[in-house]
Amino acid sequence: MSLIEWKKEFETGIPDVDVEHEALIGLINSLYDSMNSDRSKDSILQFLGDIHTKTAAHFALEEKIMREEEYAHYGEHKNEHEQLLDDINDIMDEYEFNDSFDENKLKQVLASWFSEHFKNQDALFHKAL
Ligand SMILES: [Fe+2]
Ligand SMILES: [Fe+2]
Repeated sequence: MSLIEWKKEFETGIPDVDVEHEALIGLINSLYDSMNSDRSKDSILQFLGDIHTKTAAHFALEEKIMREEEYAHYGEHKNEHEQLLDDINDIMDEYEFNDSFDENKLKQVLASWFSEHFKNQDALFHKAL
Protein backbone atom coordinates (compact mmCIF):
# COMPACT_ATOMS: atom_id res chain seq x y z
CA MET A 1 0.00 0.00 0.00
CA SER A 2 1.16 3.53 -0.68
CA LEU A 3 1.00 6.48 1.63
CA ILE A 4 0.71 8.87 -1.30
CA GLU A 5 0.04 8.17 -4.92
CA TRP A 6 1.84 10.04 -7.63
CA LYS A 7 -0.71 12.12 -9.50
CA LYS A 8 -0.53 13.72 -12.86
CA GLU A 9 -1.49 17.02 -11.24
CA PHE A 10 1.84 16.96 -9.33
CA GLU A 11 3.66 17.51 -12.60
CA THR A 12 5.51 20.77 -12.99
CA GLY A 13 6.14 20.18 -16.69
CA ILE A 14 9.90 20.05 -16.22
CA PRO A 15 10.97 16.44 -16.72
CA ASP A 16 14.00 16.54 -14.38
CA VAL A 17 11.98 18.00 -11.52
CA ASP A 18 9.11 15.62 -12.06
CA VAL A 19 11.51 12.68 -11.95
CA GLU A 20 12.92 13.91 -8.65
CA HIS A 21 9.50 14.53 -7.13
CA GLU A 22 8.32 11.13 -8.24
CA ALA A 23 11.40 9.55 -6.69
CA LEU A 24 10.73 11.38 -3.41
CA ILE A 25 7.19 10.04 -3.32
CA GLY A 26 8.44 6.53 -4.18
CA LEU A 27 10.93 6.75 -1.35
CA ILE A 28 8.28 7.88 1.13
CA ASN A 29 6.11 4.96 0.08
CA SER A 30 8.88 2.43 0.55
CA LEU A 31 9.68 3.89 3.98
CA TYR A 32 6.00 3.53 4.74
CA ASP A 33 6.06 -0.14 3.75
CA SER A 34 8.96 -0.93 6.02
CA MET A 35 7.35 0.99 8.88
CA ASN A 36 4.19 -1.08 8.39
CA SER A 37 6.08 -4.32 8.80
CA ASP A 38 7.07 -3.27 12.32
CA ARG A 39 4.75 -0.69 13.81
CA SER A 40 6.69 -0.16 17.02
CA LYS A 41 7.10 3.34 18.38
CA ASP A 42 10.75 3.36 17.34
CA SER A 43 9.92 2.26 13.85
CA ILE A 44 7.25 4.94 13.41
CA LEU A 45 9.53 7.66 14.76
CA GLN A 46 12.29 6.46 12.47
CA PHE A 47 9.88 6.58 9.55
CA LEU A 48 8.79 10.16 10.29
CA GLY A 49 12.40 11.22 10.80
CA ASP A 50 13.39 9.69 7.46
CA ILE A 51 10.56 11.49 5.63
CA HIS A 52 11.76 14.73 7.19
CA THR A 53 15.38 14.07 6.18
CA LYS A 54 14.60 13.10 2.59
CA THR A 55 12.24 16.00 2.06
CA ALA A 56 14.73 18.43 3.63
CA ALA A 57 17.45 17.13 1.28
CA HIS A 58 15.28 17.75 -1.76
CA PHE A 59 14.44 21.25 -0.53
CA ALA A 60 18.09 22.05 0.23
CA LEU A 61 19.01 21.17 -3.33
CA GLU A 62 16.34 23.49 -4.74
CA GLU A 63 17.37 26.29 -2.40
CA LYS A 64 21.00 25.95 -3.44
CA ILE A 65 20.03 26.32 -7.11
CA MET A 66 17.79 29.29 -6.28
CA ARG A 67 20.60 31.08 -4.44
CA GLU A 68 23.03 30.42 -7.26
CA GLU A 69 20.53 31.76 -9.78
CA GLU A 70 19.62 34.68 -7.52
CA TYR A 71 16.01 33.68 -7.93
CA ALA A 72 13.60 36.55 -7.16
CA HIS A 73 11.08 34.53 -5.15
CA TYR A 74 13.66 32.71 -3.06
CA GLY A 75 12.31 33.90 0.32
CA GLU A 76 8.74 33.00 -0.43
CA HIS A 77 9.70 29.60 -1.76
CA LYS A 78 12.01 28.82 1.14
CA ASN A 79 9.24 29.81 3.59
CA GLU A 80 6.97 27.19 2.12
CA HIS A 81 9.70 24.58 2.47
CA GLU A 82 10.12 25.51 6.11
CA GLN A 83 6.40 25.37 6.78
CA LEU A 84 6.15 21.90 5.35
CA LEU A 85 9.10 20.69 7.44
CA ASP A 86 7.50 22.30 10.52
CA ASP A 87 4.28 20.41 9.83
CA ILE A 88 6.21 17.15 9.71
CA ASN A 89 7.98 18.11 12.95
CA ASP A 90 4.63 18.78 14.60
CA ILE A 91 3.39 15.33 13.63
CA MET A 92 6.59 13.83 15.08
CA ASP A 93 6.25 15.79 18.34
CA GLU A 94 2.63 14.82 18.69
CA TYR A 95 3.55 11.20 18.34
CA GLU A 96 6.53 11.35 20.62
CA PHE A 97 4.72 13.12 23.42
CA ASN A 98 1.12 11.98 23.12
CA ASP A 99 1.62 8.62 21.50
CA SER A 100 -0.91 9.49 18.87
CA PHE A 101 0.03 8.97 15.26
CA ASP A 102 -2.67 10.08 12.89
CA GLU A 103 -1.75 8.40 9.66
CA ASN A 104 -4.54 10.08 7.72
CA LYS A 105 -3.37 13.46 8.88
CA LEU A 106 0.13 12.71 7.63
CA LYS A 107 -1.29 11.52 4.36
CA GLN A 108 -3.33 14.69 3.94
CA VAL A 109 -0.50 17.00 4.95
CA LEU A 110 1.92 15.44 2.47
CA ALA A 111 -0.56 15.12 -0.38
CA SER A 112 -1.83 18.68 -0.10
CA TRP A 113 1.61 20.16 0.46
CA PHE A 114 3.16 18.32 -2.40
CA SER A 115 0.38 19.03 -4.83
CA GLU A 116 0.21 22.75 -3.96
CA HIS A 117 3.92 23.31 -3.65
CA PHE A 118 4.96 21.28 -6.70
CA LYS A 119 2.31 22.86 -8.87
CA ASN A 120 2.86 26.44 -7.72
CA GLN A 121 6.26 27.30 -6.29
CA ASP A 122 8.31 24.56 -7.95
CA ALA A 123 6.74 25.06 -11.35
CA LEU A 124 7.29 28.83 -11.10
CA PHE A 125 10.90 28.43 -10.02
CA HIS A 126 11.84 25.98 -12.71
CA LYS A 127 10.21 28.09 -15.40
CA ALA A 128 12.27 31.07 -14.26
CA LEU A 129 15.57 29.23 -14.75
FE1 LIG B 1 10.49 20.36 -5.31
FE1 LIG C 1 10.26 23.71 -3.69
